[in-house]
Amino acid sequence: MQIPGSPLLEVNHLHTSFFTFSGEVQAVRDVSFRAHRGEIVGVVGESGSGKSVTFLSVTRLLSASGKIVGGEVRFDGENVLAMSHMQLRKLRNQGIGMVFQEPMTSLNPTMQIGVQIVERIRAFNKGISNQQARAQAVRLLESVRIPEAKNQLKAYPYELSGGMRQRVMFAIAIATGPKLLIADEPTTALDVTIQSQILKLIRSLRNDTNVCIILITHDLGVVAETCERVIVMYGGMIMEEGLVDEIFYETAHPYTIGLRKSIPNINQLGGDRLYSVPGSPPNLLNPPQGCPFYARCDQAMRICKQHRPPYYQLSPTHRSMCWLLDPDYPGRGGGR
Ligand SMILES: Nc1ncnc2c1ncn2[C@@H]1O[C@H](COP(=O)(O)OP(=O)(O)OP(=O)(O)O)[C@@H](O)[C@H]1O
Ligand SMILES: [Mg+2]
Repeated sequence: MQIPGSPLLEVNHLHTSFFTFSGEVQAVRDVSFRAHRGEIVGVVGESGSGKSVTFLSVTRLLSASGKIVGGEVRFDGENVLAMSHMQLRKLRNQGIGMVFQEPMTSLNPTMQIGVQIVERIRAFNKGISNQQARAQAVRLLESVRIPEAKNQLKAYPYELSGGMRQRVMFAIAIATGPKLLIADEPTTALDVTIQSQILKLIRSLRNDTNVCIILITHDLGVVAETCERVIVMYGGMIMEEGLVDEIFYETAHPYTIGLRKSIPNINQLGGDRLYSVPGSPPNLLNPPQGCPFYARCDQAMRICKQHRPPYYQLSPTHRSMCWLLDPDYPGRGGGR
């Protein structure tokens, strides 16, 4: 993928597995991509496609059974996989901010949110006074568009709505001025109106600070609203990657076509049932030898079962892994 400027995050041929009693779960298999300052990259795919594990690998926050078994991760030019404990602490605290789906599990329910934000600020800026940290906490709450920010410092998490709690999570994640913000399903638990406000907040945070944002979601509609670029994952691999317009209007992979068809359409209200791709994802204990989508693909050919397709570069910013894109495939360009 050729995007001008040096990448902030560079992942090359990443393989991550979980070693369980049942065997090796190959959760991430040969994933490579780049992300740049100031862009919002959507990572989309069904449950179990490897989205979270890819970014837990990037921050080296995998659970004990998880291991990066191959590949390279570079953040701002540094080799993340060779970092010491101290360097990793710095990376997670200052380089990369993270926001997860359920703020109630990340916020301490017994502490006022102001105290939690101040703690975060002071942990990485020892020289700052309590008063200065509180002033900074107010500015942070304002930057995530929390009304009457000063009064809200005393609120406990349970006193805030789901959308407000999620805003507090963003405030904590940006408190130390990270260059990369990873938001893993930040809007999944929210209703559509609040979801749309959080997506607007994500765009304004990027516009205000030029931070690079990775937005992980299973909802291609969320991506269309917010991102410039999209990575589509399935079975631990990247199936397609491109600019939002390329993914929506020049969709190359049958899996992406299925995801696109499953976006709710206003014209469908009261009409047909919402489409979902038939079948279920592959078992990553014993992943398919060929294309991971083979068993669910309505255009599958014999070669798809036996051999994993290479990536076909469709434009400088668009690539996809599907044998149908092979120049020698007779049906190529058949108006999908
Ligand atoms: N701790 C673990 N032990 C064993 N397998 C795991 C573990 N964590 C994740 N996996 C497996 O790794 C694969 C990828 O999981 P991952 O959490 O990255 O999916 P995801 O795309 O983030 O899905 P979701 O949309 O549900 O969050 C899945 O098959 C999952 O079962
Ligand atoms: Mg996940």
